Amino acid sequence: MKQLITLLLLVAVSMTMNAKTLVAYFSATGITKAAAEQIAAKQQADLWEIVPNEPYTEADLDWRNDQSRSSIEMKDPAERPMIKMCTDVSAYDTIYLGFPIWWNICPRIIDSWIENNDLRNKTLIPFCTSGSSTIDGAMEYLRTTYPQYKWEDGFRVAE
Ligand SMILES: Cc1cc2nc3c(=O)[nH]c(=O)nc-3n(C[C@H](O)[C@H](O)[C@H](O)COP(=O)(O)O)c2cc1C
Repeated sequence: MKQLITLLLLVAVSMTMNAKTLVAYFSATGITKAAAEQIAAKQQADLWEIVPNEPYTEADLDWRNDQSRSSIEMKDPAERPMIKMCTDVSAYDTIYLGFPIWWNICPRIIDSWIENNDLRNKTLIPFCTSGSSTIDGAMEYLRTTYPQYKWEDGFRVAE
C-alpha cells in the first residue's frame, strides 16, 4: 500500500513538473506584444506570435473608415484571415491567448487561430489590451462561439 501511494505521488509530481504554458498572441501595433512578453516571463511560458499572412497596414486598421480591412473583417462574423504559420499546441496544458480589442471583441484572426488548433483539455486564459473596453465582450463572444472549450475568466492588461 505504501509503495502504491509513493508511486501515485511520484506520478502526480512529474505531471505537475511537465505542465507547460504557452502565451499565444496577436498584436497589430505592438501593445499586446509587450503585454504577452511580460506574461510569458512571469509564467515562465513559451511565447508564440500569431502572424497574419498579410500584415495589417495603418490604413487597414482605420476604424473610422467603414471600408477599411479591419472594419470589413469585423462586420462579417465568418471572416477568417489567414495565419502565416501553424502552432503546435500539443505540449501545452494552459494557454494564455492575447489580442487587442477590436469593436468590443477579439479580432477575427483569433477565430482563425482557435479553429486551426485542437484546444480540447486545455485551460484557456484570454487577455487583451484596448483603448478603454473591458474584456467582457470578448469573453462572452469566445464562450458563446466555442462552448466546447474551457475558458477561464480573462483579463485586460492596462498600458
Ligand atoms: C480596428 C480597431 C478597433 C478597435 N476597437 C476598440 C474597441 O472597441 N474598444 C477599445 O477600447 N479599443 C479599441 N481599439 C484600440 C485597440 O484595442 C488598442 O489600441 C490595442 O491596445 C492595440 O493593441 P496592439 O498594439 O497589440 O494591436 C481598436 C483598434 C483598432 C485598430
